[in-house]
Amino acid sequence: MSNDTAIAWTPDLNTGIDVIDNQHKRIVDYINQLGLAISLRKRDVVGPILDELVDYTISHFAFEESLQEECGYQYAKPHKAVHEMFVKRVAKFQEKHSAGEDVALQLHAMLSTWLVHHIKRDDMAYVSDVRPRINSIVDNKKEGGWLSRSLGKFFK
Ligand SMILES: [Fe+2]
Repeated sequence: MSNDTAIAWTPDLNTGIDVIDNQHKRIVDYINQLGLAISLRKRDVVGPILDELVDYTISHFAFEESLQEECGYQYAKPHKAVHEMFVKRVAKFQEKHSAGEDVALQLHAMLSTWLVHHIKRDDMAYVSDVRPRINSIVDNKKEGGWLSRSLGKFFK
């Protein structure tokens, strides 16, 4: 099985916050699944993968936005706006795909470029800004703590 366009997880994508990195890896995995489906010309599975990708990404964004607020990150609002713009952009592609337009390749390229860029620029920025606070929050794995409450709230 070969997929030339697959995103490889490289160390420069690691924020150093495991819970965030694992969520990002899962999004990368969805994007790679999408790439594979496109290269195998399995149009019927593109839609379902895309739905899962969007669903999971929205959960991840909500989790990340809540974490930023919890940390008192000063640019939480603009970061949230970037997420919202991205969700709208993807929704437009989803509509076109459902309408039978051949946008899968273009969408896949956009997703790959956007995610890598967003992690390296925007996510790295907030993590480095509030790292000690994030660490203390995510290191508390106790039941009823922020982490366990938020994972339960945003991910089903
Ligand atoms: Fe983000």
